[in-house]
Amino acid sequence: MGNERVVVTGGAGMLARDLVKVFTNQYEVTCLPRAALDVADENAVLSCFRELQPNVVLHAAAYTQVDRAEMESAEAFRVNASGARAVARASAAVGAFLVAYSTDFVFSGLASAPYGEEAQTGPLCAYGRSKLAGELAVQEETDRYAVLRTAWLYGAGGGCFPKTMLRLAAAADKPLAVVCDQFGSPTFSGDLAALTVAVVRLRCQGLYHAVNEGVVSWFEFAREVLRCAGVARGVTAIGSDELDRPAKRPAYSALCTRRLRSAIRLAPRSWREALADFLEEIR
Ligand SMILES: NC(=O)c1ccc[n+]([C@@H]2O[C@H](COP(=O)([O-])OP(=O)(O)OC[C@H]3O[C@@H](n4cnc5c(N)ncnc54)[C@H](OP(=O)(O)O)[C@@H]3O)[C@@H](O)[C@H]2O)c1
Repeated sequence: MGNERVVVTGGAGMLARDLVKVFTNQYEVTCLPRAALDVADENAVLSCFRELQPNVVLHAAAYTQVDRAEMESAEAFRVNASGARAVARASAAVGAFLVAYSTDFVFSGLASAPYGEEAQTGPLCAYGRSKLAGELAVQEETDRYAVLRTAWLYGAGGGCFPKTMLRLAAAADKPLAVVCDQFGSPTFSGDLAALTVAVVRLRCQGLYHAVNEGVVSWFEFAREVLRCAGVARGVTAIGSDELDRPAKRPAYSALCTRRLRSAIRLAPRSWREALADFLEEIR
């Protein structure tokens, strides 16, 4: 483990930054931002991996602009589907264990209890379809992989919902309007990085849901962000139809982590605890 080589794709992204931070203590890490490696360039990926000979690939590169993907679905599929395939194929070629990340947006949101890994998928938007195609590509190209579906990700290294709420609260003089009819599992990218270490160490194979514990609406999430940060600003509940965004989101996309918990013998923290640590980190 001490001298295992780890490559991180999409190295300037929010999750990638936490992966690099957490893995650097224990592994020899090469961080590859988009400028160093376009993951959809199959030849470039293969020659890069042949040169670096990673034992582990953490595929954190993705097209993540959910609304823009409705207009740019070809680019979303190029990165999220073809890119995942190229990375999986090259990982297999050099014998590396691959961890790829997917999303709760592969689900339609009609459930009323947290989704298990085996649940029927049915993405409502182009981003979700492109990520689902990426999952399938990984499964087709390599036997040595973990796909971690995560959700409502926030972290210090990128723009995210809690930071947006704090910024808007500081600028506004009236309550913030936040959607109350979408429920999910907010997840701190620092926690996802720590869970990834366990997955890599144990070489957990297959599809896993990797989120902080608990189910909450964006409205409740926003209220907790402001309360925990000590910001005195009200929040008004609105319906998602009032926002009129291009991409349709699942109404309920909480994920069940039972399979992950039993594989790594560790339980993800509650979303509240993780949020408190995040707010401390960015204070
Ligand atoms: N954020 C969420 O709420 C959320 C929820 C569920 C799942 N996920 C998944 O979690 C993973 C990490 O997401 P994140 O929030 O860390 O995303 P992020 O901050 O947007 O990072 C993704 C990184 O990938 C890079 N990238 C885009 N196209 C690329 C290409 N062709 N080649 C190489 N790099 C490329 C981006 O570079 P540019 O900035 O230059 O485009 C960006 O630095 C992704 O798989 C995402 O789908 C995220």
